Parts: sequence; C-alpha cells; structure tokens
Amino acid sequence: MAADTRAKAVTLDLRRRLLSSSCRLFFPEDPVKIIRGQGQYLYDEQGREYLDCINNVAHVGHCHPTVVQAAHEQNLVLNTNSRYLHDNIVDYAQRLSETLPEQLSVFYFLNSGSEANDLALRLARQYTGHQDVVVLDHAYHGHLSSLIDISPYKFRNLGGQKEWVHVAPLPDTYRGPYREDHPNPAEAYANEVKHVISSAQQKGRKIAAFFAESLPSVSGQIIPPAGYFSQVAEHIRRAGGLFVADEIQVGFGRIGKHFWAFQLEGEDFVPDIVTMGKSIGNGHPVACMATTQAVSRAFEATGVEYFNTFGGNPVSCAVGLAVLDVLKTEQLQAHATNVGSFLLEHLTQQKAKHPIIGDVRGTGLFIGVDLIKDETLRTPATEEAEYLVSRLKENYILLSIDGPGRNILKFKPPMCFSVDNAQHVVAKLDDILTDMEEKVRSCETLRIKHPPGSTGPGCRAAAGNRPSRSRTG
Ligand SMILES: Cc1ncc(COP(=O)(O)O)c(C=O)c1O
Repeated sequence: MAADTRAKAVTLDLRRRLLSSSCRLFFPEDPVKIIRGQGQYLYDEQGREYLDCINNVAHVGHCHPTVVQAAHEQNLVLNTNSRYLHDNIVDYAQRLSETLPEQLSVFYFLNSGSEANDLALRLARQYTGHQDVVVLDHAYHGHLSSLIDISPYKFRNLGGQKEWVHVAPLPDTYRGPYREDHPNPAEAYANEVKHVISSAQQKGRKIAAFFAESLPSVSGQIIPPAGYFSQVAEHIRRAGGLFVADEIQVGFGRIGKHFWAFQLEGEDFVPDIVTMGKSIGNGHPVACMATTQAVSRAFEATGVEYFNTFGGNPVSCAVGLAVLDVLKTEQLQAHATNVGSFLLEHLTQQKAKHPIIGDVRGTGLFIGVDLIKDETLRTPATEEAEYLVSRLKENYILLSIDGPGRNILKFKPPMCFSVDNAQHVVAKLDDILTDMEEKVRSCETLRIKHPPGSTGPGCRAAAGNRPSRSRTG
C-alpha cells in the first residue's frame, strides 16, 4: 500500500484537499499518522509506539488475531444479506441474549450506533403512538438527523431544540445542581425528569421514549447516583414512554462489575430497548438493538419489512461472536475490574497531590478525571486539559477530553490495558502536572508545542484558546 510510504505532510495535504474540514483530526496542530495497531498500542509511520487510552472501539485490542481470523475465514466462504438462512446471525443473537435479561429477547442488527438509536426511536414511536423524546443534557446519540435532534451536545451548536425534544439535567453529582452533599440526589435528579415530562404534557405533548447512555460518557464520564435510572423509568413508563439504554460506549464488560452498564441499577432494572455499537465489532462496523417481544411485535404489526443491506451479515456476526469469545477466554471483564480499580486508586492519589484534579470517578475501564481551576466554583480547567493531553501525546500517550467544559480526561482504553500501562500513564501525568504547577508558579504561559514547519495554527498560547467543539467517539 503506497499510503504507508507517503510522508505525513503529504497525507495531511491530501486530506485537507479531499476531505471535509468537518472531519476533525485529533491534535490538529500536529496530527498523528497511524499505520498499525496491536493490543493497546498504535504505531505511527516512523514505528513510534503510542499507548492508546482512548479507543473503546478496539474493545479486545487492536487487530486481535481471533477477531481478524474470524472475519477472514467467513470472508473466504460467504458474505451476503440476512434474507437467507444462516447460522451466524442466530448463533450471535443467541449469545447476546445470554448476556441480557430474558425480557430483551428480540435482536435487530445494523452497522453503526447511530443506526441502532434511530431504529430504537422508530420502534418507541410505533409502540407508544407518541412522538416526543426526553434526553439528558449534553448527551450525544449519533450523527443521523433524527439523532442530532435528540443530542444536546450537537443541537446546541446548530439550529436549536425541536419542540418534540425535552432536556433533563445531567445527573452529575460533582458539578450539577444536586451534589455529593445532597441527601438523595437520585430522587432529586429523577424528579427533574418527572418535571420535564409534566411540562411537556401540559403543552399537549406525549412522550415516546427516554434516551440515555447508561453511564453518560460524552457528557464527561458521569456516574449517576444509584437508583436514578429506576426512578426515571417509572416516570417515563407512567407517561406511556419507553426507556432506551444507549450502551454504545459503555457495554460489553467495560465497567467491570457487570457486562452491561445499566445492570449497575440492580437485577430488577430492565430497559425496554438496549442499543449497542462501537466495541461490539472491535472496529468492524456492527451494531445491534435488543428489545422485548411486545415492542418488536408493534413494529412488525405495521407489515413493513425491516431490511438492512449489511446488518447481520455472516462476516459481521462472525466478528461479533469472536469478540464475545475473546472477552470470555481472556476474562477481560474481570481484568477491567482489576486494572480499573488500580488506575482509579492511583489517579485518586494524584488528586491529593495536584489541586487541578477536582474529581476522579469511574468503574472498570471507564474513568474520568475532572480538571478544575478552583475548588469552590469547580470551574472547568479547559485550556489546562488541552495542554495536558497535548503533553501526554508528546510522551506517546493518547488520551482524550470531553464534557460540556471540555475539561474531563476520559480513560476508555482497549480492555487489554494493563497495570503496567496504568502505572506508566499515572507517572507521566504526575510529571506533567508537577511541571505545569512549576510553570504557573513562575508565571509562564502554558503553550502547546508545534513542530517546526507544522502546517497547523501558529504556536499559540493554550490559555484562552477555544477548543474545537463537538468531538465524539
Ligand atoms: C453514546 C453514543 N451513542 C451513539 C453513537 C453513534 O455511534 P456511531 O458513530 O457508530 O454511529 C456514539 C458515537 O460516538 C456514542 O458515543
């Protein structure tokens, strides 16, 4: 492949000419050209190894040989649509059903998380006969028009909120209206949803669904207070709507304690629809929507065929099955618990040392580090977060930031991330934060370095620099 030998600057130039600038790059001031991946590592065109703390899609590790082999073997034999009988699709549905509560027993296969959420919206509307949706503030549920409409993370930067969309506050006990000192934040935040529903009903609106990530990740690695989702589900169902759990970033054992993040609410809590994507195919485009017989039957009753050219094809299902096999044989869910606890503990130790760290939260390999400018107001340390991530990248560690204030470091690495990796990242983070504190003491401006001859923006002060908006994944 010629692309491997092309100089990075040439690739960048071609990309700028041929692709829309809406397709953003990580580190636009000095993008990384990645040509190979293995496990939790990525390699650039010069063979330099980067530790990947971002990629929750390469769930069981970049280019995992079992997954690659499964795709290859099935590709050699057959790939076609799901209108023919084939064992892979039924085996896969069967295996997924073993991970879910028994009520969620009907499966629809698709190619992306967005498709799964869009179909969930269609099913919810068909089943309830209602049109409206309640979502959490700052949420992102996909890039289709229907999903931009229910993603405050995006629509706040676009045309605004549609009349059929109702936004409830994020159940953030660190920065939201009800915090760690509130006697019952779960009830308080769930009552906010109840209030949003009744305001909508007073205007004659009818609720079809509540959509939420089981652990809001795009909004900054939020851990809702226990009991919140169960109470929200009661309010939504009383209004005739369905509860849709978006597990696209957080499912498949990432959170360690459970296979699905909604299971943190307890065994009795069962969403009406669960959507899956990203990690499900380890990089291959696979997605799934699981629901109950009753919801599915209402959709079937329209008599309109559900056809998706690629969804559930034999190769995608072989890949999905291989991912489940690897999770089991390599015990990656338990591994996520062990490594995640280690990382959480060591990051919490850093919080005691560096005042910029306001909060460390997470479960398994889903961890957020909330950076603040001051302890009282908890003002997001946006520019400092951007600077820190850029310095980590100079040290060959890839980490991302998210949240409404773009100040939350997001750890969501491939599940093979090791204790050694965790130790290494924490040590580098400590070094950089110590150096940043030294710079601030000597009144030096934090500046993101740009390589000589960089075609990115000139060497600019990190402080006061507006970060790019709306980056997901
Ligand atoms: C929570 C969540 N839901 C849905 C999606 C959409 O998935 P996809 O990009 O595969 O369409 C994303 C993607 O970032 C996501 O983070």
